[in-house]
Amino acid sequence: MEIIHRIKELQAALVPMRAAGKQVGLVPTMGALHEGHASLVGRAARENDLTVVSVFVNPTQFNDQNDLKKYPRTPEADCRLLEACGATHVFLPSVEEMYPSPDTRQFDFAPLDKVMEGACRPGHFNGVCQVVSKLFDIVQPHRAYFGEKDYQQLAIIREMVRRLHYRIDIVGCPIVRAADGLALSSRNARLSATDRREALAISRTLLESRAFAATHSVQETKQHVEQLLAAAPGLTPEYFEIVDGTSLQTIDAWSRSENPMGCAAVFCGPVRLIDNTSYAGVPHTA
Ligand code: PAF
Repeated sequence: MEIIHRIKELQAALVPMRAAGKQVGLVPTMGALHEGHASLVGRAARENDLTVVSVFVNPTQFNDQNDLKKYPRTPEADCRLLEACGATHVFLPSVEEMYPSPDTRQFDFAPLDKVMEGACRPGHFNGVCQVVSKLFDIVQPHRAYFGEKDYQQLAIIREMVRRLHYRIDIVGCPIVRAADGLALSSRNARLSATDRREALAISRTLLESRAFAATHSVQETKQHVEQLLAAAPGLTPEYFEIVDGTSLQTIDAWSRSENPMGCAAVFCGPVRLIDNTSYAGVPHTA
């Protein structure tokens, strides 16, 4: 596995490989890697000849400077995990390497980027699109892998690829959960033991809401989840929305969507966590 810090060196390594017909997979990450990332990298390694993993805490996607400062950084452990998962190239650029001058590009993928995370974290998806488009241009992968925990991010990246005509296959990979249900996230490293226990109410509530949804309307299900999250010790919900899985717009009846999704952002102590569940396949009687 090669560890590369400079764009030119990464391109020098990839250009001849691509010319020789090798398939390139890209897994963009911000490091502090866990089993969720391992599943993306393992899949990329199975489906491509070369697997490039970028590890870069992208400053332009943080609307809160304190959040950026506190974001966990574990490059040595990340490289050990990546080697074990079959990555062939780790790209670890500096901020100056990625942004030699400020990126003034404005991405607008309305209405996808105006709701939920887009509404709560102004500028977040603009920063995500800035860095992901740079990585696409640098690496020129055949496939790029993203986790479904960041469901809205995945939808926006698919839209960016569609609107900007990138010839890249976007592969969404299922959420990986701890044995007790908590969705794996780099941010979990910042949870105290008590926070970690209390955070379980998020995945438990979302999972249980699938059974509730079978016999209740969208409005009743939304209200039920909101009440449970608000009443859970240690949790402060920011939003819970039931949206169509493609348009990300709220729905007012189950029949309005083939893939209704419940998406939540919740503070657990000082740590902001997101999680989601699909109501597709739930036999609704309400
Ligand atoms: O999901 C993430 O970790 C980040 O948003 C990404 C896609 C690596 C861009 O910085």
